[in-house]
Amino acid sequence: MRYKKYFRKTSFKQKDVGDFFLGEIQSKKPKVFLEVGVFHGVTARNVCELLNYIHGSDFRYIGLDLFNESQENVNEIIPNTKFNNPLKTIYFRFIKKQDPYSLEAVKDLLKKFKNNISLLKGNSNTILKQIDMTKIDYVFLDGGHDYPTVLNDLNNCIEVINNNGTILCDDYDLSYAPGVKKAIDEFVSSNKLKCQIICNNRFAKIEKN
Ligand SMILES: C[S@@+](CC[C@H](N)C(=O)[O-])C[C@H]1O[C@@H](n2cnc3c(N)ncnc32)[C@H](O)[C@@H]1O
Repeated sequence: MRYKKYFRKTSFKQKDVGDFFLGEIQSKKPKVFLEVGVFHGVTARNVCELLNYIHGSDFRYIGLDLFNESQENVNEIIPNTKFNNPLKTIYFRFIKKQDPYSLEAVKDLLKKFKNNISLLKGNSNTILKQIDMTKIDYVFLDGGHDYPTVLNDLNNCIEVINNNGTILCDDYDLSYAPGVKKAIDEFVSSNKLKCQIICNNRFAKIEKN
């Protein structure tokens, strides 16, 4: 399956990174998938399409994001939500009448999977503690990029690793967000986990040793 952009913004600007990412998911075939940092929901839609192709309706996707509550997190790097392409701005403002970076717009993008998804609005620092991690077998960590948030997110997801699941972290080696690498390296070493750096240093794949 190829990664599609659905006329929105995504972390995966180059399609080959998106295709690589889907290949990683395909190799694990998770049934319960958690994405921290949903943004416009493009990866969410791609993941749902893939899991639906693999499992039929027998899968769950859980996504969480601040969804516009960025003022809460002044230290966070929130991706630029403005489009360079004016056609996209017109499409969302006048045709869809939606802010693509909103829970409602992501729900709309995922409506064909409405029975399989849960979208949560809020800060991962609090929301992750309320999720039953024993049910989750794959986490895509792409939310806050500062050191304390990444470390906190990883610590809150450790149960997934203990149950033989996988945490795939985006932006491992990003020059303007060095806290991601620092938090991952520290988490892996203090918990004696296996960590593979893949896709030209883009992703850190963390699993049990
Ligand atoms: C890089 S974007 C995610 C891109 C998305 N995964 C994709 O593939 O297109 C990061 C997202 O994380 C969200 N975010 C940042 N800090 C967060 C936090 N502490 N809790 C929840 N979401 C957060 C931002 O609102 C933003 O939408």
